[in-house]
Amino acid sequence: MNQKSKIIDIYKKKINLLKKHNKLYFNNDSPAVTDSEYDNLKKEIFNLEKKNNFLNKLNLNKKIIGSPPSNKFKKVKHLKPMLSLSNAFDKKDMNDFISKINNFLNIKNEKIEFSSEPKIDGISATLVYENGVLNKGLSRGDGAIGEDILENLKTIRTIPKKIKDGNVPTLLEIRGEIYIGKKDFDKIKANFANPRNAAGGSLRQKNPKETSKIPLKYFAYGFGVIKPMIFNTQTEFLAKIKKWGFSINPLSKLVKSSEEIESRHQYIDSVRSSLDYDIDGLVYKVNDLKLQSRLGSTSNSPRWAIAYKFSAEKAFTKIKDIVIQVGRTGAITPVAKVEPVTVGGVVVSNATLHNEDEINRKDIRIGDTVQIQRAGDVIPQVVSVDQSKRDQNTKKYIFPDKCLCGGTTQKEINKSTKKEDAVRRCLKGYDCDYIAKEKLKHIVSKDAFNIDGLGKKVIDQFWDLKLIREPSDIFTINYNKVENLEGWGKLSISNLKKAIDKSINVELDRFIFSVGIRHIGQENAKILAGFFQSIDKFSKLFYEKNRKIILRNLIDLDGIGEIQINSINNFCSNNKNIEILERLIKKLKINNFRTQNKKGKFSNKTIMFTGGFEKMSRSEAKSIVEINGGKVLGTISKKLDILIVGNSKPTKKKVEQAKKLNMRIVKESEWYKILDL
Ligand code: IVH
Repeated sequence: MNQKSKIIDIYKKKINLLKKHNKLYFNNDSPAVTDSEYDNLKKEIFNLEKKNNFLNKLNLNKKIIGSPPSNKFKKVKHLKPMLSLSNAFDKKDMNDFISKINNFLNIKNEKIEFSSEPKIDGISATLVYENGVLNKGLSRGDGAIGEDILENLKTIRTIPKKIKDGNVPTLLEIRGEIYIGKKDFDKIKANFANPRNAAGGSLRQKNPKETSKIPLKYFAYGFGVIKPMIFNTQTEFLAKIKKWGFSINPLSKLVKSSEEIESRHQYIDSVRSSLDYDIDGLVYKVNDLKLQSRLGSTSNSPRWAIAYKFSAEKAFTKIKDIVIQVGRTGAITPVAKVEPVTVGGVVVSNATLHNEDEINRKDIRIGDTVQIQRAGDVIPQVVSVDQSKRDQNTKKYIFPDKCLCGGTTQKEINKSTKKEDAVRRCLKGYDCDYIAKEKLKHIVSKDAFNIDGLGKKVIDQFWDLKLIREPSDIFTINYNKVENLEGWGKLSISNLKKAIDKSINVELDRFIFSVGIRHIGQENAKILAGFFQSIDKFSKLFYEKNRKIILRNLIDLDGIGEIQINSINNFCSNNKNIEILERLIKKLKINNFRTQNKKGKFSNKTIMFTGGFEKMSRSEAKSIVEINGGKVLGTISKKLDILIVGNSKPTKKKVEQAKKLNMRIVKESEWYKILDL
């Protein structure tokens, strides 16, 4: 036997042994070896594969656990979007959250109750029951569209397949978090970076049998659509579904004050390490479901819930180098390359230094010993320098005044404060290769074109090979060149082609967001899409002679201010931006903006408010109009249909103007009647 066959022989024996132990462990639940013996076997297999590339071609290991996650699940629209949560990091953030809620609801002296629940660090999924029978199971996907992973979810024994209770609503959508227990993870950790990855990988197996090998668990935490709605509070909901057989986190608790929130937080943080699942904070939800629905959501997250994260994990390490990174808006961010250190279970080798001022203030130098921290999914950051450990020979760090592209950088002057901005920016836009590449990464990202298989790394790869230079190139990639690249095969190319073809069809608001105009996030992109309605009208901004007049009209839109208008003006004044956009638009089919709920009480009506109301805040009033198909304007003009006048300090001039224009004027009492309040 030659050397190669000997290695193959040893390798095959080890693989077979591993298969045997997997079977004993996963299927029979009676392991024959200790965890460390099992881990050692895994490591030996890994090492053999690392040293002998030819073993990978045998494709033996892949068949054991965790074949590469599949992207081929059927895409299904969620009955109701699966939103994410905004974060709080300290008591002040939590108090802000509470006062925002009070302000929105115009509540002064009542105490709001919150359901406090551990935030499980897993993978979210939603389960749809019709007449008590589980018949749909989806991953979160991009929040609007998920993937059909029902068969894999069904392998989780503790998920009820049928609810045995005559009173179960006809349509019941239960949302929860799938996770792997820490102890279970220890047994399979050689294959995955962390439990969350393992849970995700397992759920995305094409073959549910593979999923069933990895011991997944879940906690149900909320609902999507329920018809008929039979619950009044979140706590009542949780208690009921527990009776129906769902796993509910035992640490959920009702809290009533900022003090209780703090003490609960400290308590859960103190027991955190003893739990068999990873949590990264607590979720606080307004308990009363009526209040939840009054509060509603912004485009990304509900106003009635927040994730209060545990304080950041910290560690000391040494700065090896400081480099700069260029963002898609040209912002120059200094990044410390540090000696790799484990912070809260994750190996960190880069930490942000924020900006030039921050480096100067803390006098951070290459060679310094620094404390770094990592809070949840936020980028690790350098917190402080240990001056006592500083080497006398280190020199003050001089922040480069040039971008990586060689172009000059500038700090803008803030128009209102007249102060210099802390962030330096490269102003070359698409003419800077670094900015151009980041803009491409933004355009393919989840909230923008959402192109599966075209992530940041692939953009880097395609960019380096000059396969893409600007967004329109995405639609004319030379796949013959891709075929020869490492990591690409016929299947992955055909998947990529499909994903790109699909993205040709895009909604106007997504398109406006994807363009990447500074200060135009998802929420503003929606407002603008509502104003322009079609890509043809939006494109009028590209011509200088129209632009001024259009921009002047934008000031009427609630939510759009001078900052946004200046930014749109800057973006559109750059000819290169316009040329690039025009080439992109030619490749796309951009759908006209569809106002949801067009049939609402205020459909096609433009409304303005003046004065305050007793029963609700201005924000809630605005949100009600929008949910019911109307548009809220900020100034009086002929375009306005109704002026709604609150009893508390209305502006007289506005009422007079409205009278002159013969506009419908609605008083506070009449407003409540319209709303059936
Ligand atoms: S409530 C509208 N409760 O955290 C969103 N989420 O960033 C309502 N999560 O995608 C989510 N534990 O997957 C909620 N007790 C809990 C949770 C929880 C974990 C996850 C969830 C969501 C993410 C939000």
